[in-house]
Amino acid sequence: VLGAVAGCARTGPGGEPAARPSGGATTFPSGFGWGASTSAYQIEGAAAEDGRGPSVWDVFSHEPGRTRNGDTGDVAADHYHRLISDLDLMRDLGLRSYRFSVSWSRVLPTGRGEVDQRGLDFYRRLVDGLRERGIAPVVTLFHWDTPQALQELGGWENRDCAQWFADYAHTMFAALDDAVPTWLTLNEPKTVVDVGYTAGTHAPGKRDRQLANVVGHHLLLGHGLAVQALRAAGTGGRIGAALSLSPVYPADDSDAARGRATVADAEENRRWLDPVLKGSYPEDWLATQPAPVRAAMRDGDLAVIGTASDLLGVNYYGPTHIAGTGSRVMQHPTSQATWQEIDPDGLFDLLTRIKRDYGDIPLSITENGMPTTNAMQDQDRIDFLRDHFAAAHRALAAGVKLESYHVWSLMDNFEWAEGYTQRWGLVHVDYATQQRTPKASARWYQEVIARNGL
Ligand code: NOJ
Repeated sequence: VLGAVAGCARTGPGGEPAARPSGGATTFPSGFGWGASTSAYQIEGAAAEDGRGPSVWDVFSHEPGRTRNGDTGDVAADHYHRLISDLDLMRDLGLRSYRFSVSWSRVLPTGRGEVDQRGLDFYRRLVDGLRERGIAPVVTLFHWDTPQALQELGGWENRDCAQWFADYAHTMFAALDDAVPTWLTLNEPKTVVDVGYTAGTHAPGKRDRQLANVVGHHLLLGHGLAVQALRAAGTGGRIGAALSLSPVYPADDSDAARGRATVADAEENRRWLDPVLKGSYPEDWLATQPAPVRAAMRDGDLAVIGTASDLLGVNYYGPTHIAGTGSRVMQHPTSQATWQEIDPDGLFDLLTRIKRDYGDIPLSITENGMPTTNAMQDQDRIDFLRDHFAAAHRALAAGVKLESYHVWSLMDNFEWAEGYTQRWGLVHVDYATQQRTPKASARWYQEVIARNGL
């Protein structure tokens, strides 16, 4: 795997170093939001402290056989107890933006009703600590950890969950409105649908494609209602969704591959982008949906879902190549995450495609990164990030309104079903001692940020 990864550093035929964009002019716009990203269940730990209620991930990770080595997020990177030193670490790296998520069941232990003030206080300390250090908070409201009490009522299978989510969002807006400039509603609803409800390898571990697409609709409805809740709160914050997007290419020149790539593009991208940014589902995708899924889509829903967002969060990990048979083929080196094809040019294609098809909505890269197996000397991560930053710079030069870039992840953490076996962090975490050590990539990134470019 490592050998393959090294191949992603673009070298010329003679092995000479990759050419830099012309003139070495890779300075980013002033004020560019260099950042890093995490999520609550993956780093916080303190799973049963200060009144936090369980989420679907607490339950799922404790079931035998669900995660590698039976790993759970009970302790994770213990961020809940190490908040101040982690904030200092972010300041030392020079971060200008930090994207994290709120644990819904830390604030509302049963998902609705009674707020636990201790939960809100933690996020207040976090956002204030960021601002004191000159770091802009970007707050994700839902990063997959549905409160278990709501799951027992069906969770996102239940249409009411969209409203429960909007009510929780309102609680967060009211608590932190003065301190949070940017909110994200959902993180990667696609992954909940495809992995949580279709493959069944993420919480809640169901395998039902039809139910999955009902869940997908309810998630989008929750997004729209949360956007409306922010507007109703009348605060100055901006809001959007964070979608996992992947440019889809036919694996060859055949008509069959081209046709299948169009179908895959609907699944990967358009079924999420169209409702959020255009207030409609793509016709070709909708035509594939059975009656029960269509029945979940009620009159007026798409108007709610399409309520104007202020920005779009883009999680980019790699492209997708589709053969004439409809199956995915890998045409670039992959990382330790075998689903990840490494191709920086795909980021350029994706960003310019969003501009072309959806207009000039401000974009934030809310996640981009790779796992590495070497502990500290992660040259492969440096190569990966350098090439992706260069692609983002080319997109900026092509007129894309990209305002920030959050590396996934600030530190090593609980990688869901992969447990602690995949290390995605700029900062190494020794789970036995919880000691943090910046990897070579973190030092390199610090310099990129200081010079605002490559
Ligand atoms: C996307 C998810 O949002 C994040 O939680 C996950 O750790 C990364 N991808 C890496 O797989």
